[in-house]
Amino acid sequence: MSENMCTLEMKDISIEFPGVKALNNVNFTMRSGEIRAVVGANGAGKSTLMKVLAGANETYTGDIFIDSQHYELRTPRAAKDLGIELVYQEVDTALFPYLTVGENIMFNSIVTGMKGRAMIRWRKINKSARDILRQLNMDIDVTRKMSSLTLAQKQMVLIARAVREQCRFLILDEPTAPLSLGEVAELFRIVKELASKKNVGIIFISHRLPELFQICQSLTVMKDGQVVANRTVDSSLTVQDIVNLMLGRSFEENFPKIPAPIGDVVIEAEHLMDGEGKVRDVSFSIRSGEIVGVCGLVGAGKTELCKLLFGANRMGAGTVRYKGKPISVHSPTSAVRQKIALVPEERRKEGVLVSEPVYFNLSAACLGKFANRFSFIVRSLEIANAKKLVGDLGIKTPSVYQRVKYLSGGNQQKVAVGKWLTSDSDIYMLDEPTKGVDVGAKRDIFQLIQSLAKQGKAVLYASSEINEILAITDRLYVMYNGEFVTELETHKTTEEEILYYATGGRK
Ligand SMILES: Nc1ncnc2c1ncn2[C@@H]1O[C@H](COP(=O)(O)OP(=O)(O)OP(=O)(O)O)[C@@H](O)[C@H]1O
Ligand SMILES: [Mg+2]
Repeated sequence: MSENMCTLEMKDISIEFPGVKALNNVNFTMRSGEIRAVVGANGAGKSTLMKVLAGANETYTGDIFIDSQHYELRTPRAAKDLGIELVYQEVDTALFPYLTVGENIMFNSIVTGMKGRAMIRWRKINKSARDILRQLNMDIDVTRKMSSLTLAQKQMVLIARAVREQCRFLILDEPTAPLSLGEVAELFRIVKELASKKNVGIIFISHRLPELFQICQSLTVMKDGQVVANRTVDSSLTVQDIVNLMLGRSFEENFPKIPAPIGDVVIEAEHLMDGEGKVRDVSFSIRSGEIVGVCGLVGAGKTELCKLLFGANRMGAGTVRYKGKPISVHSPTSAVRQKIALVPEERRKEGVLVSEPVYFNLSAACLGKFANRFSFIVRSLEIANAKKLVGDLGIKTPSVYQRVKYLSGGNQQKVAVGKWLTSDSDIYMLDEPTKGVDVGAKRDIFQLIQSLAKQGKAVLYASSEINEILAITDRLYVMYNGEFVTELETHKTTEEEILYYATGGRK
C-alpha cells in the first residue's frame, strides 16, 4: 500500500427533496488512486450523491469518513479543504469567460491572495498556471481568453484548476458527453495519469457504458436513490450486465427499425452556406415518412446546419423549398410558423425554461393545441398532454407541476425532446437527442421518432453516434468540415464506411 493511500467512506447517506427521496441510505466506498465509475438511469441519484460529497447538498443525513475520520461536508469549502473537487457537466457556469486561462486556473489564489494586498502578480500567476498545465501535458496557452476555447479545452482547464490544490478525489459528472473521440482519448490519458502518478481517486459518471471499460477499475450502480451493486471492471463484466443492474431488467440494445411508408419530398435544400465556413454548400432532401441522418464527428457542422435551417443562424446563401415552394426562414419564430421544429443540442440553454414547470415546457411549442375557441389555454388539456408524455418518455418527476430545474440532467433532456415531439410540425430536426439520456430512455425517444415518421413527418437526425444513425435512419449524409461528403443508404452501409467519411475520407 502506498504511503499516501487514503480511503473515502460515505455511510447511510440520505437526502429528501419535496416529493422525492433522492438518496436512500447510500453506502459508497473508494480509495485514492482508484478510478471508479458511477452509473444508473436518469434520476437514479448519481449527481445528488456526488454533490453531497462536494459539500453542495448540505441537508444530507448520514456520515462521511476520510481515513476513518468523521467529517461534516456542509459547504463546498469544507470539501475542497479535504481535497474533494467536482467538475460539473455544465462547464460554462463554472468558468469566467472573459478572464484568461491562467486567471481561471489560479482564480482561488488570486482571490485569497488579494486580501490586504493591492497587487496581483500576473507573471507569477501565468507561470504557476503554465506549470500545472505542463504537469498534466495539456497544451493550452495560458494567456488565451477562456471564451475562445473549445468545450474540451474548457473542461481541461476545470480539471487543471481542480488538481492545482492538493486534490485527493476528483469527481467528473458526465465529462465525455460533449466530447469528440480524440478529445475523449485525451481526457482519459489525463485521468489515468492523475490516478497513477498523483494518486488521485477519480469518480467518473457516464451514460456511455462501453467507454467505462477503457479507464475504470471498479463500478457502482445506482437505482432509485440506492446503490444496487458494486463490481470490479474486468473481462467477465459486460455492458449488458451493467444495463441489467441499472434498469433491473434485461434489455436488448438494438432497436427494431419499423419502416414507414415514404411519400413526397417535404423539404429540399440547395447549396446552403452560412457565410462563416461552418456550413459549406450543403444540399439534401427529405421525404415524408423518412428519417434522414446527418452523421459527423463533434464539430463537423451538424449543429450549425440545424440552426441555419431553423432560422437561429443567418443564412449566407442557398435555397430551401417546402413541398416544392421556396421558403425563407429568418428566425426561429418563422420556422415554427412554417412547421419546422428543432430539438437543439444545448438543451439547458436553448431547449427548456428551467424555472417553469414540466407541463408548461411540454406544451410551450404547441400552445395552439390547448386553446379553446376564445384562445384561452385550457389547463386540463395541457396537463393531460404532459402526463402522457411523462409516461411515454419515462420522465422521472414527482409530478407535472415540478419545475424543470429540479429534474436530473437526463430528465431535463427528455423534457426538451418531448416538448418538440408534440409540436404540430411537418419537419423535425433533432440535434444529438440522446446526449446524456440513459439506454432505456434512448429507446423511448427512438419510438417517438419512429411514430412521427409513421405519421408522415420528415425527420432529420443529427448525431455523432454512428450506432444510433445506423439503428434509426433510412438514409444518411456524412458531414465533414461543414460539407456533406457522401450520401449512403443505411441498410447498405457499415460503421467502418461511415467513420471513413466522417474522418475526412473521400470517394
Ligand atoms: N434540488 C432538487 N429539488 C428537487 N428534486 C431534486 C433536486 N435535485 C435532484 N432532485 C431529484 O433527485 C433525483 C436524483 O437526481 P440526480 O440529479 O441525482 O440524478 P442522476 O442520477 O444524476 O440522473 P442523470 O443521469 O439524469 O443526470 C431526481 O428524481 C431529481 O429529480
Ligand atoms: Mg446527473
